[in-house]
Order: sequence, then C-alpha cells, then structure tokens
Amino acid sequence: MHAYTVQASSSINMDAKLSITFILFSATIQLLAFTNAIALDHCASEPLHLDVALIPIYSKCSPFQLPSARSWLDTLMIMASTDSQRLHYLSSLLPKKRSTSVPIASGLAFNIGNYVVRVKLGTPGQLMFMVLDTSSDEAWVPCSGCTGCSAAVTFSPKASATYRSLDCSVPQCSQVRGFSCPDAGSDPCSFNHSYAGSSFSATLVQDSLGLASDIIPNYAFGCVNNVAGGPLPSQGLLGLGRGPLSLFSQSAGSLYRGVFSYCLPSFKSYFFSGSLKLGPRGQPKRIRTTPLLRNPRRPSLYYVNLTGVSVGRVHVGLPSELLSFNPNTGAGTIIDSGTVITRFVEPVYGAIRDEFRRQVKGPFSSLGAFDTCFVKSYETLAPTITLHFSGLELKLPLENSFVHSSSGSLACLAMAASPNNVNSVLNVIANLQQQNLRILFDTVNNKVGIARELCN
Ligand SMILES: *[C@@H]1O[C@H](CO)[C@@H](O)[C@H](O)[C@H]1NC(C)=O
Ligand SMILES: *[C@@H]1O[C@H](CO)[C@@H](O)[C@H](O)[C@H]1NC(C)=O
Repeated sequence: MHAYTVQASSSINMDAKLSITFILFSATIQLLAFTNAIALDHCASEPLHLDVALIPIYSKCSPFQLPSARSWLDTLMIMASTDSQRLHYLSSLLPKKRSTSVPIASGLAFNIGNYVVRVKLGTPGQLMFMVLDTSSDEAWVPCSGCTGCSAAVTFSPKASATYRSLDCSVPQCSQVRGFSCPDAGSDPCSFNHSYAGSSFSATLVQDSLGLASDIIPNYAFGCVNNVAGGPLPSQGLLGLGRGPLSLFSQSAGSLYRGVFSYCLPSFKSYFFSGSLKLGPRGQPKRIRTTPLLRNPRRPSLYYVNLTGVSVGRVHVGLPSELLSFNPNTGAGTIIDSGTVITRFVEPVYGAIRDEFRRQVKGPFSSLGAFDTCFVKSYETLAPTITLHFSGLELKLPLENSFVHSSSGSLACLAMAASPNNVNSVLNVIANLQQQNLRILFDTVNNKVGIARELCN
C-alpha cells in the first residue's frame, strides 16, 4: 500500500507538466440536480421525485472542496492511488485470511468515496452529504462530540426528536460487522470498523433517514464517536450493499423493493450530475441484463459473471478460473461504486494490455497507475474494449476506455492490475468504466442491467 502510494506520487512529480484533461472532480463544476438547466439554485433544490441527486464529491454543490492548487493530473493520481486502499477493503470482505499488511494512511487529504448523495437525518432533517458505497451495508455518520473526526458537519442526536440509541438486545446489533457486546444486555451496541486505512468506533443508533421525498423511519446506522488513522468520508457513508443492514434491507423491501439504479456522469463534463433512482418506478423497462450473483458468505458485494474480454475483434484468452465466480474464495468480478479505475487481477490485466499493445501503435509510456499511454492521435484507431458478461456485452465507449493528458497529447488505457500488495482475487468494474451508463441492480430478480444513458 505504502509503496504503491509512493510510486504514484513520484509519477505525479515526474509527469506534473502533463495536465490531464480528464476531469474527475472540479471545484468549479456545477450541478444540475437531475433536471436540466432550469433550476435557479440547483444545489438547494429539493428533489422532485424518487431520484436522489448523486454528485461528484468535489462538484460545486458538494461541501467538499478540492485544494485549489491541485492539478487534475494530481487529483486523478491521488484518486487512483486510493484505489489500492479500496481493494484492500474489498479484499477484507472476502472469506480469505485477512491481509496482514495494514494500509498506511498518507498525509494527503484524499477522499475516499467518489460520489456523494444528499440525505437528511433526524427530525427535523439534518442535511448530510454521504458517500455512496455499493460495497458496504451499514451507514455511518460522524456524531457531535466525535474525537478525531475531520467533519465540520456532524449529526447531532440531541437536535432530533426521533433519535434513539440501540442496545445490545436489538437484533440489528448482531448484524453489524465487528459489533461487541459483553452480553445481550442493555449496554449500548457499539462496534469498531476499519475503512480505507482508518478505524473508528461507533454506536448503533436509529433515526429517520430522508432520501429525496422519502422518509425511512427507524433507520439503524452507526454514530461515529472516535476515529483513528486516516480520514474517513467526512460526512459519513451510505451503504447500498446487499447485506442485512443496508438501505434496502432496512426499507423493509416494500419501499424500494430491492431495486435501484444509478448513472454516473461523464468525468469530463462541466455540468455534471448523476442520479440514484430508488425503487422500481422510473427504471428503464427495456434493458439488457446479466445475472446478479450472490456470495452467501459475503453478501454485500454485487457479483456478476464476467466471462471474457475482447480487444477489438480479438477475444483475449483468459484462464476462466481468474474470472469465474467462486463463492468459497470470493473470486470473481464485482461492480463497485467506490473504485476509480477498473482493476483486474494481474494475469488478466496483463493479457488485456498485451493484446491492446499489439493492436495500437507504440511507443508506450506510464503515467501513475496507467502503464499503457500512447500518442493521443492514435486513440480513435484504438480497438474497442468489450466486457462480456453472461447475456450482456458492454462495449466501452471511448471516454470509458481512455484518459488524456492535454499538453502531453497522450491517451492512456484507463485500467490497471490490482496493486501488487493487494492479494486480491477480485476483478472490480469501477467508476471510470461506468460513466454515462445506467446500472440497474435488481436484487429480487437477481439481475444487473446496463444501458447507455447520457446523464451529464
Ligand atoms: C474499539 O477499539 C477501541 C480502541 O482500540 C477499544 O478500546 C474498544 O474496546 C473497541 N470496541 C469494540 C466494540 O470492539
Ligand atoms: C459464468 O459463465 C460461464 C460461461 O458462460 C458459465 O460456464 C458459468 O456457469 C457462469 N457462472 C455462473 C455462476 O453463472
């Protein structure tokens, strides 16, 4: 982890003159809150229907600001460098022995999640911008009085009329990862988690959760009291995983009926907005789907069956055991909302890259996490990358395949191998490859749908 970060940072310095036009997060970016340019104050606008505005963490309406001196290239590299912590986190969810290398948090004020949603907690609702994480179940927020929280904004239980603390006797307590209760008695239900290189302790509480115009009463979440290590998503995290304490489990299945979708806007777009649609209403009717697989031992993750990858017309020969779903080891492919660039286990990435390099004119150079950068003018001639899932082919549009350096005129293949020191068996389909696609998760019918949608 540490070595990876250092390596990424030295690349930042080396390549500092290449300013990447692939814009990931911008302090100047404006949000159009899922309507078009009509809204006068789109940051303040209340949602009009079931869609929840999904905004990049550094967009204009977000309270989180990118340090202004930072270039896009640096931002991208910092983002991509946090992927290795993400992979550590995802691997830690697998039924393998835990990784012995503890991620070291760097001093950089990196963010952990890439997209945030506006929610209201408590009564009256306290506005929080929580990171959206499809690979976590529980939600948690910094609570007032928290030590070590970086948050300027915390949730104040005292200011809410509907707040309740939960003790060890409630059934939800035993569903929290890392809970500890001396006996199933009346002690507060407390738990310790690690997330992205930091650890925190929290107590399980419940209150009303407001999403767009919906209110979910008695929603159980962690009230973070103490943080050690690196920064956490500073206004908390909303878990959209599949486990018992996730939003869907807690909305009793009736409200959203286990269905949601999101569209992540183009990273390049100036007007950048996305939407999170909860529930079956308003979802695309005709959409190609692939089976959603469930690993009973790690129920949070959204596994799909990646059966192959093509580069142009060439179906890359990949050993099926490196792609296929294995509930015992946790191996397979997941779709994740929190990783920036798609990561394949090393032999898979190596084979894709080698085939790609065979078809594109070199020479090739590296840029941070990207090892296959080439003269940008060859990009339009570059082969299309197609991900083959059972029953569904996803041809990656150009913008989901490459990132650019403007002054250097380079295009880079926007994928990478799992970082060396992450002993992962997981392939992770990440944000960059999901731009301008609607990804639909139907946990009742066990399907994942993918359709092109311009949600800029
Ligand atoms: C959480 O960690 C702290 C500090 O290491 C420890 O004092 C506390 O007992 C732990 N709590 C739980 C619930 O494991
Ligand atoms: C994944 O797809 C392969 C190839 O079509 C198939 O043999 C395998 O059974 C599928 N796995 C699951 C878990 O659906």
